Amino acid sequence: MSKTVEIEKRRTFGIVSHPDAGKTTLTEKLLLFGGAIQVAGAVKSNKIKRGATSDFMEIERQRGISVATSVMAFEYGGRMIYILDSLGLQDFAEDTFRTLTAVDSVIVVIDVAKGVETQTEKLVRVCRMRKTPIIVFINKLDREGKDGFDLLDEIEQKLGLTVQPMSWPIGMGQRFQGVYNLYEQNLRLFRPHSKLTEEEEYVRIDDLEDPELDRQVGEKAAEELREEALMIEEVYPGFDQEAYLEGNISPVFFGSAINNFGVKELLDCFVRIAPSPLARQTEERLVEPGEDQFTGFVFKIHANIDPRHRDRIAFLRICSGKFERNTNYLHIRQNRKMKFANPTSFMAARKEVVEEAYPGDIVGLYDSGNFKIGDTLTGGEQLHFKGIPSFSPEQFRYVNNADPLKAKQLNKGLTQLMDEGVAQLFVREQNGRKIIGTVGALQFDVIQYRLEHEYGAKCTYEPINLHKACWVYCEDAEVFRAFRKRRQRDMAIDKDGKVVFLAESAWALQMAQENFPEVQFYFTSEF
Ligand code: G4P
Repeated sequence: MSKTVEIEKRRTFGIVSHPDAGKTTLTEKLLLFGGAIQVAGAVKSNKIKRGATSDFMEIERQRGISVATSVMAFEYGGRMIYILDSLGLQDFAEDTFRTLTAVDSVIVVIDVAKGVETQTEKLVRVCRMRKTPIIVFINKLDREGKDGFDLLDEIEQKLGLTVQPMSWPIGMGQRFQGVYNLYEQNLRLFRPHSKLTEEEEYVRIDDLEDPELDRQVGEKAAEELREEALMIEEVYPGFDQEAYLEGNISPVFFGSAINNFGVKELLDCFVRIAPSPLARQTEERLVEPGEDQFTGFVFKIHANIDPRHRDRIAFLRICSGKFERNTNYLHIRQNRKMKFANPTSFMAARKEVVEEAYPGDIVGLYDSGNFKIGDTLTGGEQLHFKGIPSFSPEQFRYVNNADPLKAKQLNKGLTQLMDEGVAQLFVREQNGRKIIGTVGALQFDVIQYRLEHEYGAKCTYEPINLHKACWVYCEDAEVFRAFRKRRQRDMAIDKDGKVVFLAESAWALQMAQENFPEVQFYFTSEF
């Protein structure tokens, strides 16, 4: 098969949501359709159950599960589909953000009763920064929830998306009767726990005035649907494929993942409209997937679950050309050639060695510590893929060595855990003290535990009062030097040697910005 055909076939996407909205359930139903799993319940929820935050065995178990569910691949409708999983739990948000750089589109799951929640807001903001095409799935229609129009307004306001309903629910909760597909013009009646393929459940209704609609859902509901469909036509712009691909319009579906209702419609539409692998920006130039030269980047690193082996799996997203086993590629950051004897695929549960891989594919590389998140591999050209920024952490602590004889182990462990993207490390310029920044508090426990069990090092933490870490830059080297000298106490260096301003409070940050108007402050490491 030609390379172009291979590329066209691929759809690599992520599902994002606030915890509990139904991401795991939806993923599982999609895998059932793709034949990647046979029974429901095969994809374990990889969230850490509430109340178990200090249970380290639970953390370790979850890490094991999340290796297995990091990338799930299946074939459907002639497409090769990759779902890249990202933990929805707040504590792992940094990792989630990184995964979003390796997808070509996303599906956002929203709970009909809860509406737009904080974690979804954060994740969608990142997608919008990158202009990633977004489809929205409103879940749990079998329960009482918010009014459809109110929800769409909320999505537009809080997520900044322009939405286009593709289907419309008839009632909800106890009164939920089904969904009318505005584009296919058919009605699908709700039956709890529907099977995978029940074509007969579709009732074709080309014209909403058709009395068949009244017979199917009752006069009152039919009238309501007619009115609402009219409103949709008036208020929303209509689906436009180009606008969707440019990230400017988001189609919205309604359903109930647990009941497998509305999932097939979502999947069928997804394979039709979602983008095949997109061109990706490097610091040097735009890389098109169809180019001859192989290029790719590492978006995730997972430590093996077996603590006796320090091997890790680096997840490589192929961006252009063809990746081949046992072929020399240039590891840009280390400036040396590397080849891979056992690159693994993620098709179904079979982890098998791949001979070749194409743009859009994700390949697992065994790594003994050579990779960092964001590393680029190429056929020889000096390129650096962009778009793997670090975000300002929200929680900070000083990290101290608790065992003076194990200083080396501690440093090694910290470096490797930071390479994996577990957290961020900042070193104060003034005194060389190390500060760990995370998105959630649980991460501190994970680091302490893993340092001890994997590296034989012990650490303690000390509280530090910090609001945000901002990456700073100034055109005028003289002004920048003056700023760094004046604010010496607040300056630090990140893992890549970039200069960071540690703001003690929102007010301190504002003051620094006012006092040094020439200095730019950024909340991400790439600007
Ligand atoms: P997450 O990955 O986004 O965190 O969510 P997950 O799929 O684990 O779903 C969260 C809870 O919502 C689960 O219940 C799940 O069964 C339920 N759920 C998912 N889709 C629907 C739906 O369409 N309707 C209804 N009513 N519930 C849905 P749980 O009690 O937390 O877990 P479990 O014991 O059922 O696994």
